[in-house]
Amino acid sequence: MNMKQLAAEAAVDYVKDGMKVGLGTGSTAYFAINKLGERVKEGLQITAVATSVASEEQARELGIPLVPFAQVDRLDLTIDGADELDGSLRLIKGGGGALLREKIVAMGSDRMIVVADESKAVRTLGKFPLPVEIVPFAWEWTLKDILKLGCEAELRREGSELYKTDNGNYIADCRFGAIEDPAAVAAALQALPGVVEHGLFIGIANMAIVGKSDGTIDIIT
Ligand code: A5P
Repeated sequence: MNMKQLAAEAAVDYVKDGMKVGLGTGSTAYFAINKLGERVKEGLQITAVATSVASEEQARELGIPLVPFAQVDRLDLTIDGADELDGSLRLIKGGGGALLREKIVAMGSDRMIVVADESKAVRTLGKFPLPVEIVPFAWEWTLKDILKLGCEAELRREGSELYKTDNGNYIADCRFGAIEDPAAVAAALQALPGVVEHGLFIGIANMAIVGKSDGTIDIIT
């Protein structure tokens, strides 16, 4: 079994009957959604919300009952991937462009379990470029403001077009180098009016399950 699948399926063991579950996005969350689909077919009773159009479609195909946000106050558990995680459960997310919906869903959950292969576990965040979702209006100004924070940044592209998120926004991929003080970077980005959300998740995840090449998992709490 591959490392992503190993971690994802271990996380699904934490899903119990009656739970309201947040479904993450990306190639690791994909395995968790698949396993949840299997368990639903076996009789597991859950309801779910998804963090992207792709995950919603996957869940629908698998028969996982999806509920509108108007019908749920809080979720019990969200399972999602990460692009990087450190030993304090701080994350970089948004490699797949879903960071805004992922953060809304994770922060609306009592628990968030991160699932990842061992390549994602780092001592210091920042090797992976930090995704920042910005509004298209005056994006040139917002990008300049972001550059003033001391990073190299460029708008994400999809072929010859600028990449658009499920929310119709752009993503600036920002290379800060080693991010020694993630909270300071998060605050500086959040202070910019054109920034919708950034991919630093601090104080949100409660547990990480890391799949390793030797077939075992590490649990970080
Ligand atoms: C989606 O926007 C991301 O936050 C993903 O959760 C993250 O990129 C991890 O993706 P993989 O599991 O595909 O590496």
